[in-house]
Amino acid sequence: MSYKEDQAQIWEAKYLEDSLGWDLGGPTPIFCQISEEISPGEICIVGCGLGHDAIMFAKKGFHVTAVDFAPSAIKAVNELATKANVKIDTIQIDLFSMLPEYNNTFDYVIEQTCFCAIPLIQREDYAHVVQSILKPGGQLIGLWFPLDKTIEEGGPPWATSLEEVKSLFNSGWEIEKEEWPTLSISPRKDREKLIIFKNLN
Ligand SMILES: C[S@@+](CC[C@H](N)C(=O)[O-])C[C@H]1O[C@@H](n2cnc3c(N)ncnc32)[C@H](O)[C@@H]1O
Repeated sequence: MSYKEDQAQIWEAKYLEDSLGWDLGGPTPIFCQISEEISPGEICIVGCGLGHDAIMFAKKGFHVTAVDFAPSAIKAVNELATKANVKIDTIQIDLFSMLPEYNNTFDYVIEQTCFCAIPLIQREDYAHVVQSILKPGGQLIGLWFPLDKTIEEGGPPWATSLEEVKSLFNSGWEIEKEEWPTLSISPRKDREKLIIFKNLN
């Protein structure tokens, strides 16, 4: 089994065991607010999980592409979309395999607890993929989490630091917005920060 198949199976097992400690059970409050502030366009949700945000953005008129390598996650998003009567493109794929097909495709990429699922050695590649799938001027809208964890504590979720994030999204990016969201859910207050990066490439 390759390293990547192994990762996908580890996440799929969490769905099969219903061990979904990260799932909010509904759309993310800060993303609901942002969806009212940005113009509808092509939006990609990486590591989309059960898809609550995918459904929310689709209802607001965005063309949503929901990406996850766990079959159960994609099945859940498709079921939610049917129930909500919205059209969403779902792709069961390792996000590291999105290139070159999805090069230069999206106006927005939504990041929430996908980055912290990515082992540290793959994070430069993650930044490369995200920048490549965004159009020039496109935005990476990220809730960066968990900021209170150390590498020694292991993962997933693997530690995320603002220094690391800002250094990965440095060359060819500029920060459009950075704030501690007042709308963070209480267990994540002060442990996640909203940073919106604009792709200058
Ligand atoms: C902690 S969950 C978060 C799910 C969702 N973003 C949320 O906040 O509810 C991480 C998700 O990322 C997916 N994932 C992790 N690495 C991935 C990769 N390399 N390619 C695609 N999906 C990935 C997992 O299958 C899982 O659904």
